[in-house]
Amino acid sequence: MSAERYEKLEAIAAKSVSIAELFKVEPERMKRFVLREGPLRADFSKQSISEHAREQLLHLARDCQLDDWRARFFAGDKINTSEDRAVLHMALRGVGGDKAVQKQVKDMRKKLREFATEIRKAGKFKSIVHVGIGGSDLGPRLVADGLAAAGSAALELRFAENVDGASINDALEGLDPKTTLVIVVSKSFTTQETRMNAEAARDWLEAKLGKKAGASFIAVTANRSGAEDFGVASDQIFDFWDWVGGRYSVWSAVGLSLQIAYGPDAFDSFLDGAAAMDMHFRDQPLENNLPVMMAMTGVWNRNVLGYSSVAVIPYSRRIRKLSAFLQQLEMESNGKSKTRLGKDTGLTCPIIWGDEGTNGQHAFFQWLHQGTPGAPVDFVAVLKDHEARPSHHNALLANCFAQSEALMIGKPEHVVREELKSEGRPDAEIDQLAPQKTFSGNRPSTTITLDELTPFALGHLIALYEHKVFVQGVIWGVNSFDQWGVQLGKVLAGAILREFEGDQGRHDPSTEALIKMVTVKS
Ligand code: F6P
Repeated sequence: MSAERYEKLEAIAAKSVSIAELFKVEPERMKRFVLREGPLRADFSKQSISEHAREQLLHLARDCQLDDWRARFFAGDKINTSEDRAVLHMALRGVGGDKAVQKQVKDMRKKLREFATEIRKAGKFKSIVHVGIGGSDLGPRLVADGLAAAGSAALELRFAENVDGASINDALEGLDPKTTLVIVVSKSFTTQETRMNAEAARDWLEAKLGKKAGASFIAVTANRSGAEDFGVASDQIFDFWDWVGGRYSVWSAVGLSLQIAYGPDAFDSFLDGAAAMDMHFRDQPLENNLPVMMAMTGVWNRNVLGYSSVAVIPYSRRIRKLSAFLQQLEMESNGKSKTRLGKDTGLTCPIIWGDEGTNGQHAFFQWLHQGTPGAPVDFVAVLKDHEARPSHHNALLANCFAQSEALMIGKPEHVVREELKSEGRPDAEIDQLAPQKTFSGNRPSTTITLDELTPFALGHLIALYEHKVFVQGVIWGVNSFDQWGVQLGKVLAGAILREFEGDQGRHDPSTEALIKMVTVKS
């Protein structure tokens, strides 16, 4: 069924006119391809998808039983089959899950609110060092910057993630152990980087505070006994649950640092924004559904047009870590080559990359405009100026809108030739230069705008991408909620580390030579 559908989509793509032409032949295009929910508007009209292609993409989603999967997801079925777990990060925002789950969430939210309020009120701590990596780091980091648009942090918030000693050294640099709260976040509490940084932070606290250091050391984990074995006092541990994937966990106790720094009200509003997107995703028909439209646009670009990457360019410094966050969210979720049933997939998750606008314009945009094959772009902009610099903000937005227009309309060779001629250039030079100065255009993009960068809107945006990933996982037939691909490297790193300390091991000649450079020196 799906194979036939893909053939149809390919046939449509082969006959398609350019994006610019689609605007001329489809008078309803803006109506069909622009969707809004609350403060978020997404304009898919600059994608090279005709109305007919859009209908076929929605049929593909139905062929893949997206409706059923969505219902199972919200009902708390164990859709993470390889780990035999439900997937219920929406329940953290108050949507979905059974009564028991809702109670767990409610109790935890109350506990977190009370704790954050108390810390803010007491005023003893001036800074937080948040220790964690991957999902225990990227979400909090992105959201910390984003929340700063609406209000400044009550405490300084620093992060230590990498096992490179520079990470924890930089995080602790210049801080006073007496006024620093260390929050160690690890779902598994087994992650090497986090444990080593947590040990370093604890040593640093103990050197100054001695036995009292424990009161400045918090753990957030789904492995309470692991944290206790590590030496964290039981009443200093905040739980979350195995039905919260690491990369979907910023909504849980993982966001404790954010609640303390920016206040529980801002955090609640962030959760409410995500909940509103959850309900939109759950209740809207596929054709009006933002995450579905976004996901199917990605499927078109990947599986029909063959693009191997997507650039995400936030035109807002406050969400500049969006592309790094989405790299984990999308690539760890859907970077798979076997289906849930262990069969080969077709093409799945593209590479996600990007940097903030306008910086990227002075770096890799050359490739986006003229490179082979280029990449579809998600432009993300905020309409309101939060910096009291209206002229800067207008320039930022003008750049954002200009880039998507330029990618679409390009600059035809005959126009370039005329320009060169009017400059009086000789024909031979025009023949050489014109092709180089031509822009092919017809390069697809989506523009997402937030009315303002409120905590609510930020929650909306992140939940939109989360559900996009879910939909694409359904279409590609993969389990979006496991990550077996990260295991092998972790095991080999453990073995090599033991060899640095004297163990014997066998490797290929290249790896052996690398290991020797360390063992011979030490
Ligand atoms: O290495 C991948 C990973 O398992 C991610 O999925 C996760 O977000 C990260 O490591 C950190 O894991 P933990 O929160 O258990 O320390």
